[in-house]
Amino acid sequence: MDTVMSQLTGAGDGSRFKDAAEILENGGLVAFPTETVYGLGADATNEKAVRDIYRAKGRPSDNPLIVHIGTAGELERYAAEVPEAAWKCAEAFWPGPLTIIVRAKPGVFAPSVTAGLDTVGLRMPAHPAALGLLQASGLPVAAPSANTSGKPSPTRAEHVAADMGGKIPYILDGGPTGIGIESTVLDLTSVPPAILRPGAVTSDMLRPVIGEVNHSAEATDAGKATPRAPGMKYTHYSPDAPVWLIDPDREQILDAVRRIHGKGKRIALVAPEGFGETGADWYFPTGRQNDPASVSGQLYASLRACDGTDADIVLAATVNDEGIGGAVMNRLNKAAAGRLFRT
Ligand code: TXA
Ligand code: MG
Repeated sequence: MDTVMSQLTGAGDGSRFKDAAEILENGGLVAFPTETVYGLGADATNEKAVRDIYRAKGRPSDNPLIVHIGTAGELERYAAEVPEAAWKCAEAFWPGPLTIIVRAKPGVFAPSVTAGLDTVGLRMPAHPAALGLLQASGLPVAAPSANTSGKPSPTRAEHVAADMGGKIPYILDGGPTGIGIESTVLDLTSVPPAILRPGAVTSDMLRPVIGEVNHSAEATDAGKATPRAPGMKYTHYSPDAPVWLIDPDREQILDAVRRIHGKGKRIALVAPEGFGETGADWYFPTGRQNDPASVSGQLYASLRACDGTDADIVLAATVNDEGIGGAVMNRLNKAAAGRLFRT
């Protein structure tokens, strides 16, 4: 299959959204930018199209998809009942990087969207291209991140093309996404609501709007090993070489580089600007120290860039966990499977 990459320019985008909407209406897949990461979209009411998403990504079929909507009012159309907290979240954070889990209206979505659950994740994204596509089609659009399963989510159209080229007909290229890590997933079916996946909308932001919120660390049901967001049990966000976390401290990095080189291994360093000349074989400057939002915007591009090297090991600098930093550390810990390099 030929993949068309359509660059959004502002002028004339309406006809690009129409083309893309037509593909969705005909059961095809379209990748599109959101403010978090690129999504791989299909008509959420079309079972065959939704299955094609799983196939294109190589995604396990027990991991449900997020449904994207173009207006907050659609909550009523897709949720069995809309809890008060859902309206409050929509009012405060939509369009934006927050996915809310509610009971799904029975019989609306293709069964594969929810992977057999009676709940559905809904999100109204804050990106003109995503909204343009959603509003042009009027469809609920099931869209996981547009990466091959197990790879970092795509934050640029080139990442999508690298993973999905030849497998899908159409990519809307809106340039780099801003936030760079996936939306917060908030389960509103539990009491109190629980963050199943941390993101740019933090518990500190949610609490004033909906009251008590459980932290992501508590998002596994007590006594059970299975996380409530099925996707969180899979290794995610990993480059090919093993990742080790390290403090963003020049002395520690210099020491780590010496020791790893001593074992004849090559190193890719993912660290904030200003960590050049450490002797690492590759260095991908990733945001600014003490500015977690700048790191989140570039993290996945840097982890992907590591795959373009012959590094045997990736050293990735930690960030302080204020604001979106907590979500960045969640992704880094996953990429590193918790490994921390200490000297
Ligand atoms: O920022 C984002 O959320 C991006 C963009 C494209 O919107 N999408 C995204 O989708 O990251 P995906 O499929 O890669 O991640 C969805 C996460 C998974 O961890 C999944 O298990 C969880 O949300 N999830 C989806 N529906 C759920 C449900 N009904 N109950 C619990 N968890 C659910
Ligand atoms: Mg994903």
